[in-house]
Amino acid sequence: MYNSKIIGLGYYLPENKVTNADLSKIMDTNDAWIQERTGIKERRWIKKGTEDTSAVMGAKAAKIAIERANLTKDDIDFLVFATLSPDYFFPGCGVQVQDMLEMSTIGAIDIRNQCSGFIYAMSTADQFIKTGMYKNILVIGAEYHSNGLDKTTRGRGVSVIFGDGAGACVLTRTEDNTKGILSSHLHSEGKYAEKLMVKSPSIKHWVPEIIASKGEDISYFPYMDGQFVFKNAVTRFSQVILEGLEKNNLKTSDIDMLIPHQANLRISQFVQRKFGLSDDQVFNNIMKYGNTTAASIIIALTEAWEQQKIKENNLVVLAAFGSGFTWGSVIIRW
Ligand code: COA
Repeated sequence: MYNSKIIGLGYYLPENKVTNADLSKIMDTNDAWIQERTGIKERRWIKKGTEDTSAVMGAKAAKIAIERANLTKDDIDFLVFATLSPDYFFPGCGVQVQDMLEMSTIGAIDIRNQCSGFIYAMSTADQFIKTGMYKNILVIGAEYHSNGLDKTTRGRGVSVIFGDGAGACVLTRTEDNTKGILSSHLHSEGKYAEKLMVKSPSIKHWVPEIIASKGEDISYFPYMDGQFVFKNAVTRFSQVILEGLEKNNLKTSDIDMLIPHQANLRISQFVQRKFGLSDDQVFNNIMKYGNTTAASIIIALTEAWEQQKIKENNLVVLAAFGSGFTWGSVIIRW
């Protein structure tokens, strides 16, 4: 069996920075509350009227990743796109990127696993490479949250957390089984779907019903039971990291770099303390970008790599938890 390894990384963020002070002008919130609860100082929100969308940002990040992999778009055999904020209800963003990058008629799938989306996407790509079906796969995570948030005091418990952005990587086949993705671990618990969700519009509850409510029905805004999500996140993050390490006969002290999904700095710090990891062993950038959901891990991984915090042979652990609930980890020997 083959193995897969990352050979190109890229990210793209919209230019428009929105600070906590900016938010306090449009809703009843303040910098101290947001930083204390989440660690976030600012996030990027797409300026309306610019070209950026999840698919467009994903394509921009993908171009960088392909170039850094020293490949061209014609070398890519398959494309996996993770997002919870696709440009269209259907078709998915994957096919849009296939068109935007003028790729040949390669297969393209969308992954809908929210904050765990990138982990699920990497794992999916890894399976296609391990079995020998494809050689080079483009994996993208992108989110355009800002146009779908309730940016009033009513929605402040959710809207201050989320940011827009995209990241991408190219996975390629290797015959060296000691390098690359060692294993991936995926989980779900659908009974908690309604703890963090956007309920409509859905086929069950379609647009005319929302319009008929004359503004009463706001189920098109994300809902989150923050404290319940927080408690489950810290437990599941820890479990799935340990599961991945155990599978490879490794210990927490073997981790060179943990890249947790950037859900909340307090969640990352909890996991860091629990495993006794130093600041150099955990990478966080939620302070600058907020929670970019399916994009967060790949943006963070790219930044950590750009800052030379990841070196040859390092043990890199990616882990995520989010809506679904879903959670997962990927264990990589760099
Ligand atoms: N600014 C100021 N006050 C706010 C606020 C904001 N942006 N959002 C909520 N509040 C208020 C609430 O109205 C509440 O006021 P009250 O006590 O008068 O009713 C108070 O702050 C506490 O709200 P609560 O929701 O209990 O806060 P919390 O301590 O649970 O923190 C989260 C909220 C969202 C930061 C926290 O629950 C969390 O991070 N959860 C996990 C989120 C997450 O990771 N989501 C992504 C999934 S991967």
